[in-house]
Amino acid sequence: MNVMQADHISIVFGGLKAVDDVTIYAKKGELLGLIGPNGAGKTTIFNMLTGVYAPTKGSIAFVNNSGAEINIKGMQPYKVSRIGVSRTFQNIRLFKNLSVLDNMLISMHKDVGYSVFGAIIKSGRYLNIEKEFYDKAIKILQAVKLDGKKDEYAKNLPYGEQRKLEIARAIATGAEIVFLDEPAAGMNPSETEELADLIQILKNEYNLTIVLIEHDMKFVMKICQRIYVLDFGILIAEGVPKEIKSNPNVIKAYLGEEIE
Ligand SMILES: Nc1ncnc2c1ncn2[C@@H]1O[C@H](COP(=O)(O)OP(=O)(O)OP(=O)(O)O)[C@@H](O)[C@H]1O
Ligand SMILES: [Mg+2]
Repeated sequence: MNVMQADHISIVFGGLKAVDDVTIYAKKGELLGLIGPNGAGKTTIFNMLTGVYAPTKGSIAFVNNSGAEINIKGMQPYKVSRIGVSRTFQNIRLFKNLSVLDNMLISMHKDVGYSVFGAIIKSGRYLNIEKEFYDKAIKILQAVKLDGKKDEYAKNLPYGEQRKLEIARAIATGAEIVFLDEPAAGMNPSETEELADLIQILKNEYNLTIVLIEHDMKFVMKICQRIYVLDFGILIAEGVPKEIKSNPNVIKAYLGEEIE
């Protein structure tokens, strides 16, 4: 079953076709890569898939856990997020002056089953939900090894940990499909290696479908089951890592760069 299906999507920015007639899908539980040179249109595709931009042409649909197909055309990002779609950003967007834990909790308060009044009088229900959120947040923080820093300001975390917190936060929303925009950017080789394991662990633990953009080819080839390659807004290849590495169009697009 495809949990995400984008058909023939295009977007034009002031005459520039940033994404041109791209069709991509994700099967439930897949770990997909979206690669391509700088400016190829990768982030723009994520922006369309998460409701930040509406495609000029084409359609985007997600299938939620109940099997309902939801077309996100014209839907605002917060509504797309409610159907179980979350993301991280190329440029880290944490609440820098909130604690690590609060960054997690804030992303979890979307469909709480209690009234504001209930919250004020601290009803039993409120406390239960708070406890549930807290436990869930801590469990995810443990997975990314940040539970020991739950009270630290997000801004005080080293860069690699801020990236991990972003991923943790995206999962805390209860998302079924998570888009990661360059999760390993700025990480050193050992952090990147750890992240590769971490992403796979989180995917299995939380039954996620993951689509990631990444320039680190070693990382992509190691963890992605299937890869899409974009160049100048056009999809030039799709396949398993082995096929992508030997695809002449891909090699040409990356001319002068190391793919392997
Ligand atoms: N809001 C916008 N307005 C105008 N042009 C835009 C906008 N967003 C993206 N673009 C342009 O669309 C093209 C694709 O940009 P995009 O950010 O999607 O590339 P990318 O593949 O993510 O590149 P990188 O690897 O550098 O992050 C670029 O030419 C970019 O300048
Ligand atoms: Mg980008």
